[in-house]
Amino acid sequence: MSTTFQLDTSTSRAHPTPAPMKRLTVPQVRERKVAGVTAEPIVMLTAYTARQAQLLDTHCDLLLVGDSLGQVIYGLPSSVPVTLDLMIAHGAAVVRGSYHAAVVVDMPFGSYEASPQDAFASAARVMKETGCAAIKLEGGEAMAETVAFLVHRGIPVMGHVGLTPQAVNVLGGYNARGRSTAEADKIIADARALEAAGAFAIVIEGVVEPIAVAITQAVACPTIGIGASAQCDGQVLVTDDMLGMFERVPRFVKIYENIAETIGNAAARYAADVRARSFPGPEQTYQPRKGASE
Ligand code: KIV
Repeated sequence: MSTTFQLDTSTSRAHPTPAPMKRLTVPQVRERKVAGVTAEPIVMLTAYTARQAQLLDTHCDLLLVGDSLGQVIYGLPSSVPVTLDLMIAHGAAVVRGSYHAAVVVDMPFGSYEASPQDAFASAARVMKETGCAAIKLEGGEAMAETVAFLVHRGIPVMGHVGLTPQAVNVLGGYNARGRSTAEADKIIADARALEAAGAFAIVIEGVVEPIAVAITQAVACPTIGIGASAQCDGQVLVTDDMLGMFERVPRFVKIYENIAETIGNAAARYAADVRARSFPGPEQTYQPRKGASE
């Protein structure tokens, strides 16, 4: 049985959980889009740790525990090596650190493609062991049967079409998709198949803008763009990318801060203090209490 649902404020640096606050639910996210219109765009960011989740939570409708954690946290060359156990560990941390946003956990490569039954076993573990609201998987028409199988058995599914990073070895890279008519038609057909299968939302990644707009108009469920279009029903970015943690990011990333510089500067000041023996100072050291016996 999982014990991952409660934030243990006695042993973590977490803020105490604020007085009763309800998380957004998957149906509430789905219902943001009414008759093809999403009056209030859906805000999603990736989160991989409890503290990151705490900081992002109130600003986001959805927190995505993306398998991009493979590259962002673990320095892997792609998301292909990411395991189910890794996703579960980080998914549970993000659920512990949040109380408002609905948490979606990515299904890693190899955990869902072989059969709907395999997918169910993996997704059920993710749901049980993290407490997340939904899972996300990559692929369109080829995954439609699996999406329907999961949804009918109580597992909300977010789809992901266009540039699907787990397929990097088939695609040959991370270039934008949908430049040829055939490719564009295929991506639109993929999105339609996911919607028909019951996906509650669909991530559209790295596609030429008119295709993102066409999909957003074609499907009744919300689309969430990344390298797609402002006309999608919502947007997602990899948080560490938009915080300026990396020198190289895809061109669709807007950088809102320069955290790498902040960290580098802080580390340089700390190193100088240590080398000058000015840290720790009186405020950071313990002295014997006055009058304490030996
Ligand atoms: O893994 C991830 O972070 C993602 C987003 C980029 C959509 O799938």
